[in-house]
Amino acid sequence: MDECCSPGQSRYYEPFDARFARRLDRRYRRTGLTGPERRIAERIESDGVEGASVLEVGGGIGAIQLELLRHGASNTTNLEMSGAYEATARALLDEAGLTARVRRLVGVDLATADRDVPIADHVVLHRVVCCYPDALALLAASAAHARRTVVFSHPARTWPRRALVGAANAMMRLRGMAYRGYVHSPEAMYEALRSAGFALDGIVRAGPWRIATAHRA
Ligand SMILES: C[S@@+](CC[C@H](N)C(=O)[O-])C[C@H]1O[C@@H](n2cnc3c(N)ncnc32)[C@H](O)[C@@H]1O
Repeated sequence: MDECCSPGQSRYYEPFDARFARRLDRRYRRTGLTGPERRIAERIESDGVEGASVLEVGGGIGAIQLELLRHGASNTTNLEMSGAYEATARALLDEAGLTARVRRLVGVDLATADRDVPIADHVVLHRVVCCYPDALALLAASAAHARRTVVFSHPARTWPRRALVGAANAMMRLRGMAYRGYVHSPEAMYEALRSAGFALDGIVRAGPWRIATAHRA
């Protein structure tokens, strides 16, 4: 584990630890991108990935970025609150010969912007807004860093999903963990992007996830 961290960052190290990273790594090596990851990559590719830059917030082991780099993205930047993915991500990049085109920053929270993060053509957040308390601020900051597109996934805001997340949060509280999951209002998240000058271009379903794509208007 990388040396941890600010109080806001430390809560991500427990659930998103080296074991979680190894599980993602095994799955990616066995079967490639998951269905939702593939849909996100396709959305970016259809907007033009050749020569484009990509910023991924909470990109984990970087599977979507590997795909986009193979399809011609010029470079990617990954922001993570947990440092537990770094060894796995580096190994995948080295094996693919793509290390030089990727910048990975740990502990940089785009929403509070304590460090300069480069603007990119496309910004991606997959399975991230549901891990972050202020999703609206994170999406507004993502929009401010996107020249062309923001693609993000969120869980459907159903009662079963809310009950599941509530139960998981109760378990984490009992175990003394600081991490919490969230089921934010989809409409409020879409509105955050609209207010930042983006137009929503359809929401697609991918398993339990909804994938929203927004283009700079
Ligand atoms: C469920 S994991 C998903 C990882 C990866 N996107 C995937 O789908 O495999 C959520 C990740 O979001 C990261 N995260 C949450 N808020 C973040 C923020 N503001 N900036 C960067 N990463 C963040 C957490 O550290 C965690 O690794």
